[in-house]
Amino acid sequence: MANTNLANAKTAKNDEFYTQYHDIQTEINAYLDYNPDVFRGKTVLLPCDDPEWSNFTKFFAQNFETFGLKKLISTSYAVESKRITDWQPTLFEADSPYYDADKSRTNGKIFVLDKDINGDGRFNIKDLQWSYLEGDGDFRSDEVKALRDEADIIITNPPFSLFREFVAWIMEANKQFVIVGHQNAVSYKEVFPLIKNNLIWFGVGFKGGATHFISNYQDIATAGNHIEGMIRVSGVVWFTNIDHGRRHEPLPLMTMEDNILYSKHKEIRGKSYIHYENYNAIDVPFSDAIPIDYDGIMGVPKSFLDKYCPEQFEIVGIAEGDSGKALGLKPYPRELKKLNPSLRDGQLYYIDEDGIPQKPYARILIRKKQ
Ligand SMILES: C[S@@+](CC[C@H](N)C(=O)[O-])C[C@H]1O[C@@H](n2cnc3c(N)ncnc32)[C@H](O)[C@@H]1O
Repeated sequence: MANTNLANAKTAKNDEFYTQYHDIQTEINAYLDYNPDVFRGKTVLLPCDDPEWSNFTKFFAQNFETFGLKKLISTSYAVESKRITDWQPTLFEADSPYYDADKSRTNGKIFVLDKDINGDGRFNIKDLQWSYLEGDGDFRSDEVKALRDEADIIITNPPFSLFREFVAWIMEANKQFVIVGHQNAVSYKEVFPLIKNNLIWFGVGFKGGATHFISNYQDIATAGNHIEGMIRVSGVVWFTNIDHGRRHEPLPLMTMEDNILYSKHKEIRGKSYIHYENYNAIDVPFSDAIPIDYDGIMGVPKSFLDKYCPEQFEIVGIAEGDSGKALGLKPYPRELKKLNPSLRDGQLYYIDEDGIPQKPYARILIRKKQ
């Protein structure tokens, strides 16, 4: 029982990170720079939100007219379902004529902006209307699914623990979206095929691949990165299927010969690129060391996706588990296990200068676009 409580607390903690206004603004501006009409005439749904104080709701309500939105809907998840114990309704809710002490705990809320309610001739945050949902606001409920189906674009930072389900929920309804997730989600079997086939991609991202989220939980960031009331998360990215300019900018790269002569990475300079033992490809441990004149397959870190330009490269696969086996990565000879017990079938390995088999970090396999 204690373990279940601990697991629940951990899930709740990981699911209750709130996104900063400027992170939302930076990302959304990238889509607007590419297509100023990207939101014009559209219904935008912000599910898994907390509209009373969410920066997503605030940002889109404030920019309703500028973006030319048709309708903004945001929904929240009931406090009781969140497994939060220490909680009080906001003054906004408690002072409202619609306040219901029971529903306040058990029901989700919906906020809608599509009319000039106060008649001031503007559509803005003051025109948001709210009510309780029939259910708890679970994105998987029929009630929220109906809102999804009504929407053109879905934007949120979904619960970390339900990321796979959330992506499937969007894709089954064939909607445009912009959502926060972790870079590691790239390897999920529900996500990688979509990336490989250019059906979804990384957004413009967080500066340095990390950001702070608003959180009441104890931060574990080092002193230099600590911000009161916030939690630092690295490896965080935006996933989307809306186009932006960065993904059409090819990476500036050198030839293999120049990399070996001039690369800033000591692993490359004065050396040669390592060839894997169990797959016909070279290892490229840094995206900026990809040799532009190499026509074969290359293994690159997952962070390459942040720089991926589909006109420059194609994605061949991911060297992990069943996907690696399906790509034809040869099983490692069993006698090597005593030299490196971490070897796994479906993963790449090479032999280092001392004759020891080594596994690179998780690799995505790419090839120059022919
Ligand atoms: C990572 S937080 C992000 C909140 C907000 N979108 C933001 O970024 O400011 C995820 C939110 O989803 C809620 N949530 C968790 N499980 C959910 C579910 N099954 N359906 C809907 N919302 C859920 C959490 O309670 C939390 O409020």
